Amino acid sequence: MADVQQNFVADESTVVLGIETSCDETAVSVVMGGGDVLSSVVSSQLDEHARFGGVVPEIASRAHLEALPNVTAEALERAGIDFSRIDAVAATVGPGLVGALLVGVSAAKATALALDVPFVGVNHLEAHLYAALLDDPDVEFPMLFVLVSGGHTMFVAMNDPHDYRVVGQTIDDAAGEAFDKVARFLDLGFPGGPAIDRSAQNGNEKAVNFPRAMLNDGLDVSFSGLKTAVINHVRANPDVSNDDVAASFQRAVVDVLVHKARLAARECGARTIALGGGVAANSQLRRELEKAGNDDGLRVLLPSREMCTDNAAMIASAGWYRLRRGESTPLDAGANPNLKLARGQR
Ligand code: KG4
Ligand code: ZN
Repeated sequence: MADVQQNFVADESTVVLGIETSCDETAVSVVMGGGDVLSSVVSSQLDEHARFGGVVPEIASRAHLEALPNVTAEALERAGIDFSRIDAVAATVGPGLVGALLVGVSAAKATALALDVPFVGVNHLEAHLYAALLDDPDVEFPMLFVLVSGGHTMFVAMNDPHDYRVVGQTIDDAAGEAFDKVARFLDLGFPGGPAIDRSAQNGNEKAVNFPRAMLNDGLDVSFSGLKTAVINHVRANPDVSNDDVAASFQRAVVDVLVHKARLAARECGARTIALGGGVAANSQLRRELEKAGNDDGLRVLLPSREMCTDNAAMIASAGWYRLRRGESTPLDAGANPNLKLARGQR
């Protein structure tokens, strides 16, 4: 076993089974050669958490345990292979909910051990970048990676593929968290991002001039004051239309993210911007960032929408890139709920 792990180097024919259980999606995927997605199955626990208005860790762990065998079987079936064709197993080892992570990590290690193939632990944040590179991996560096998810909001400068440096980040709420909290306040449902995105299509983005915090203040961002401003505005104007509030709120978030991404790209001399994380599915953010990048002569890489939110294809892909460099993970390594992507990350 130890020999297999130490000597293995992935190539174009290497088939990786990816497992993602860091939060509330149980996902398994089969990816060949780092970019050929043979299957990607995502089982969401949305219904189980919705009535609590957020993810409940204990419920998440149990639901992962229950779902993982079937999701794995379906991923293999859709890929048209059985376990014997798997060359390596990748799983998210952090960041995330510790109990949820352990379900996927334990299953991945047991599978790797049983099949006598390498295991590779994957950083969930790095995997969101690989979602953007799935369709188009040959990028020009330097690159700016804009990571906007439910738990993180960061601008990451990259001079080469595995050199990550955080140049800006949120000082309070993550962008996705702001979407979720505002949606909950407006009673639009959970998760909030897609609900606000939909509602905003029918609203007037100029209806309310919400604050754009820290706009001229370095590369960090802040969304907590914006969330409070939305709540105060709706309380003071109970008849205001939800669609107008959603559109005005979304506009403010997108304005800040695009402005800071542009600044960050300029500061790190980027030739490419890659967008990743659940909020990368936002239609206005995709449109505006692409336009800004084009205006500045930058290539903008957007993940396909289904690859923005949590999935296991991005885990298998990120795992393959590590294995191609000969990096597998010992079976005694654990999960790390606070795993960081880069130096400078709070
Ligand atoms: O990356 P992700 O699936 O999970 C984390 O790693 O956090 O991101 C989930 C976040 C949620 O906050 C969700 O509301 C947000 O992504 N999201 C969106 C959209 N779709 C998902 N936010 C804005 N617009 C969307 N269309
Ligand atoms: Zn994520």
